[in-house]
Amino acid sequence: MKKCDISRLGAEDLIRDISQEYMLVAAGTPDRYNMMTASWGGVGYLWGQPVTFVFIRPERFTFEFVEREPRFTLSFLGDAHRDILAYCGSHSGRDGDKAAATGLKAVATELGSVAFEQARLTLECRKLYRMELRPEEFLDRAPLERWYGDRPGGSLHAVYVAAIENVYE
Ligand SMILES: Cc1cc2nc3c(=O)[nH]c(=O)nc-3n(C[C@H](O)[C@H](O)[C@H](O)COP(=O)(O)O)c2cc1C
Repeated sequence: MKKCDISRLGAEDLIRDISQEYMLVAAGTPDRYNMMTASWGGVGYLWGQPVTFVFIRPERFTFEFVEREPRFTLSFLGDAHRDILAYCGSHSGRDGDKAAATGLKAVATELGSVAFEQARLTLECRKLYRMELRPEEFLDRAPLERWYGDRPGGSLHAVYVAAIENVYE
């Protein structure tokens, strides 16, 4: 894993990466961490810096780690590792060791966050802001009904905005 400039992200189709390749959201250290597959989120510019934002349901085991830790990482594994992403998106770290089941190899970033050897691209992010989505704030009710009506999949997501501190490839 080699550190690179943030301009490296200009070579990516990030909407495609996030929505179709998917990513792993991970928080903790290589000794104690959890990760899950995510396909909701984005990369942008806010408060004078490059940021990422992710949406995590409070039911996820990963939520506990993201809440507790100052940082999280976003790992893009590439289409060759779809099996890993499928597993980490359908099993909880509460019930078993997902790294052992998938062969994911945890490594430490420069700042000590957990990342994965298999990743082709990793973003190391420091939390700036969190909020919980609220039903009364939906200006269009369609996504509320589509994704949360009668709670399909669980509670409304928590949103984290985080500064992109490092990019590795
Ligand atoms: C393709 C895909 C995308 C997902 N995207 C998200 C997401 O953006 N936010 C979220 O909270 N859960 C998302 N999930 C669900 C979690 O990955 C899943 O519930 C996982 O088992 C949680 O693991 P954990 O309990 O170990 O954190 C997604 C699942 C899949 C398969």
